[in-house]
Amino acid sequence: MQIVILKDAAEVAHYGAQIFVDQINKKADSVIGLATGSTPVALYQDLIARNAAKEVSFAAVTSFNLDEYLGLTGEHPQSYRYFMNEQLFNHVDIDKSNTHVPPGDAKNPLTACKEYEAKIEAAGGIDVQLLGIGRNGHIGFNEPSSGLTSRTRVKTLTKATIEDNARFFAADEYQPHLSITMGIGTILDSRKVVLLATGANKADAIQAMVEGPLTAACPASALQMHRNAVIVIDDAAASKLA
Ligand code: F6R
Repeated sequence: MQIVILKDAAEVAHYGAQIFVDQINKKADSVIGLATGSTPVALYQDLIARNAAKEVSFAAVTSFNLDEYLGLTGEHPQSYRYFMNEQLFNHVDIDKSNTHVPPGDAKNPLTACKEYEAKIEAAGGIDVQLLGIGRNGHIGFNEPSSGLTSRTRVKTLTKATIEDNARFFAADEYQPHLSITMGIGTILDSRKVVLLATGANKADAIQAMVEGPLTAACPASALQMHRNAVIVIDDAAASKLA
């Protein structure tokens, strides 16, 4: 693991965006893995600005998102498909038919999981996968106790994750408890992994991921086994590292 510690969230976003810009400028038809949540928003804004400035083009890029709520269609404002359209895809020159998010409205979710894996494989695998990290050490929706070789599948969200994500849902709005997520094995197959984390509330998870044992109790610790993982964090998220 390469650990990069920067001053603040803005520097983290810029550093992370540069990795994607370099990758796409090296290989125009790169396959990139994307994440949702609060952390990548600033990185996406950076990519939008650099696309507008013609410093990078997504015209030949294919993308695969990590996860999606099961039970929400892509039109639902809290779905991760909707988030990606709003936060990135609608504002850059990517061909939407080359963007993939697990189908939250799949009639047969188990088949949909297998199909998602097959699509990643058919695209040639993921060149660079973007990740955030949950306070409980989850990556994607691979909650603690997830198998370290798991593939794309249906996962139940933990109480902690449901509580953390409740901020995105109105008080009387249905909040899904199930998801489709790439597995840890799927993520580890990516040729490069870039995990971003900012803020003191991620410091325990970062400490467990970097310095703790390799364990399913902290799914992100599986990245210790990845030969090309870059962890980009700010001072606050790094505050519990030795
Ligand atoms: C989202 C995802 C999650 C988030 C994590 C951190 O696609 O895969 O693992 O990366 O929950 O979320 P934020 O960035 O909101 O703290």
